[in-house]
Amino acid sequence: MERKLAVALDVRDKNSALKILDDLKGKNLIIKIGYALFLKEGFEIITHVKERGFEVFLDLKLHDIPNTVYNAVLSAVDKKIDYLTLHALGGREMLLKAVEAKNNSKLKLLAVTVLTSHSEDYMEFLGSKYSLQQFALKLAQTAVEVGVDGIVSSPFEVRTLKNSIGKEFLAVTPGIRLGEEKKDDQKRTATPEFAIKEGANILVIGRPILSSRNKRELVEEILQKINNA
Ligand code: C5P
Repeated sequence: MERKLAVALDVRDKNSALKILDDLKGKNLIIKIGYALFLKEGFEIITHVKERGFEVFLDLKLHDIPNTVYNAVLSAVDKKIDYLTLHALGGREMLLKAVEAKNNSKLKLLAVTVLTSHSEDYMEFLGSKYSLQQFALKLAQTAVEVGVDGIVSSPFEVRTLKNSIGKEFLAVTPGIRLGEEKKDDQKRTATPEFAIKEGANILVIGRPILSSRNKRELVEEILQKINNA
């Protein structure tokens, strides 16, 4: 299965974004855009990403009634988005409608299970009989079963997910750090080599690249690590 790098374009304005995109032009990359940049700069930012030949990963984490998500996914297909996130917590019906809207397009739907910011307290809050881990697995299984293309998870969960889900899917992993640099607000981090060995397909990396002086060189190094792991 594929191995790709998604650069999280977590900057606040168009000029900073364009500078990074120009630095990285020509590389085989996915660019992840979150709602901070998307809300501020609108669809124009996606046009810039596409013009430079990158794939677009729109991280909007959709979670709404099935019909609303259906229409949102139709719009993403119209706009030729490559990857779009949604919450598996939205339920089977919502996931099914998302898959129906995607139809035979090239759009890849990626489901988020339980956000890494949650702890067991959240399970109590939901009144769930499951542990957080069991719940995340159940959500991932449901999402893949109904036809979602990938699951976003920590590199430490990929192996369990791949062993437990009886169908191929794209494992997308944030929480990557290259070595001894700071972890920022990530609690447990893994190297690109570790994530790939565990079965990750798309590595999402933001701050280590964004804060680097030579982003192009660093991206090249990471791509080599990914390909050689
Ligand atoms: O800067 P850093 O490499 O930590 O960025 C990781 C990216 O992945 C951010 O855009 C963040 O929002 C996203 N993400 C995450 N953890 C999750 C889900 C998404 O860090 N569980």
